[in-house]
Amino acid sequence: MAAHVCVGRRLVWLLAAVVCLSCANGRLSGVEKQNLELHRHLKRVNKAAVKSIQSPDGDIIDCVHVSHQPAFDHPFLKNHTIQMRPAFHPEGLFDENKVASEKKSKPHVQLWHQNGRCPENTIPIRRTKKDDILRASSVKRYGKKKHKSIPHPLSIDPDLLNESGHQHAIAYVEGDKYYGAKATINVWEPKIQQSNEFSLSQLWILGGSFGEDLNSIEAGWQVSPDLYGDNNTRLFTYWTSDAYQATGCYNLLCSGFIQINSEVAMGASIYPISNFQSSQYDISILIWKDPKEGNWWMQFGNDYVLGYWPAFLFSYLADSASMIEWGGEVVNSEADGEHTSTQMGSGHFPEEGFGKASYFRNIQVVDESNNLKAPKGVGSFTEQSNCYDVQNGNNGDWGTYFYYGGPGKNNNCP
Ligand SMILES: *[C@@H]1O[C@H](CO)[C@@H](O)[C@H](O)[C@H]1NC(C)=O
Ligand SMILES: *[C@@H]1O[C@H](CO)[C@@H](O)[C@H](O)[C@H]1NC(C)=O
Ligand SMILES: *[C@@H]1O[C@H](CO)[C@@H](O)[C@H](O)[C@H]1NC(C)=O
Repeated sequence: MAAHVCVGRRLVWLLAAVVCLSCANGRLSGVEKQNLELHRHLKRVNKAAVKSIQSPDGDIIDCVHVSHQPAFDHPFLKNHTIQMRPAFHPEGLFDENKVASEKKSKPHVQLWHQNGRCPENTIPIRRTKKDDILRASSVKRYGKKKHKSIPHPLSIDPDLLNESGHQHAIAYVEGDKYYGAKATINVWEPKIQQSNEFSLSQLWILGGSFGEDLNSIEAGWQVSPDLYGDNNTRLFTYWTSDAYQATGCYNLLCSGFIQINSEVAMGASIYPISNFQSSQYDISILIWKDPKEGNWWMQFGNDYVLGYWPAFLFSYLADSASMIEWGGEVVNSEADGEHTSTQMGSGHFPEEGFGKASYFRNIQVVDESNNLKAPKGVGSFTEQSNCYDVQNGNNGDWGTYFYYGGPGKNNNCP
């Protein structure tokens, strides 16, 4: 392929020898190759837009016809008939109107809505820019989690876990068959010390063993300078069917997830976000398996059914999940026992409580009969509670909930 392109280049070279010196030995230079690969990739991921909206944060949101979205690059989806609604919703959705007013948070929108909306039959997609890809280790790895980042605390040797640099403060359930999960999470903008670190708050729907073939569906909010080029808090999803190796990606950065919603863009900034000792804003995420078609659906808030992951993408999750996790994760890139000051959640410890600490409330699971219910036997886990901690609770308004997070580096977490 490279040699072929170079034949064309030779003509240019004859005219302007300086332009293609590297072609003299029949090869493209590394830089030329990378540019070519990059432009091909951008062409592949950025679909033709019906309309484009400039967001105040610098993003461009492309409104792409629903049948032209990245999902349909997948060979198994060539003849797919889009499902415009799930066959079933889980029963027993938590009634938000029952939450006592002093602990009620306000509805939110996405930042780009300030400058427009996408028309019907299109979906909003955050445009991938050249700089986004240049921040990744390679074009291929852009939009994927790093190989070694297995964010599943109960899976591996705790010593290895500390070495991997990923730290968690989570609640979890296991030991049953799960068909979905829900949570309401308040949204913050944690400070990130270094651009190769991130801080996120999400739920994990997990299937299979924690070996090479782990299946995972994930959604929540994240701050990730490497992925997005800024420190904004963004809505995200992730999926993999082989423990973060070859399959899956963030958002719509590869084919897989089929979006039907024209109002919410994956990877776009969430607005507004909570303020310390002031207004609290939270988002609700529900992921469930449609008992009829077997697809995994995602709903954002009470009103937005975003779309679905087709069952065929998965092995274990084609049947059910064996574990659900909710909580925070950060990357600590400091070496030699030093700890990063990257924050998790609000950057405050759980014991500080409402208005100060970050929370997941009304966490629920979907059972075999498609009913949402309080999870039984919720466990919690953190590697270093002096850096980031988690505290479970239970009450009438918030059902099963927990506060989590922390500042990272501090006097007790050197
Ligand atoms: C799609 O449909 C066409 C025509 O019916 C058929 O020939 C082709 O094999 C189908 N492809 C897939 C991947 O199912
Ligand atoms: C993100 O925040 C870090 C410090 O918290 C800062 O050094 C960096 O410049 C910020 N990046 C952007 C793109 O604003
Ligand atoms: C991780 O390392 C820290 C600091 O060395 C230690 O205090 C903590 O117990 C370790 N955690 C686990 C789960 O091994």
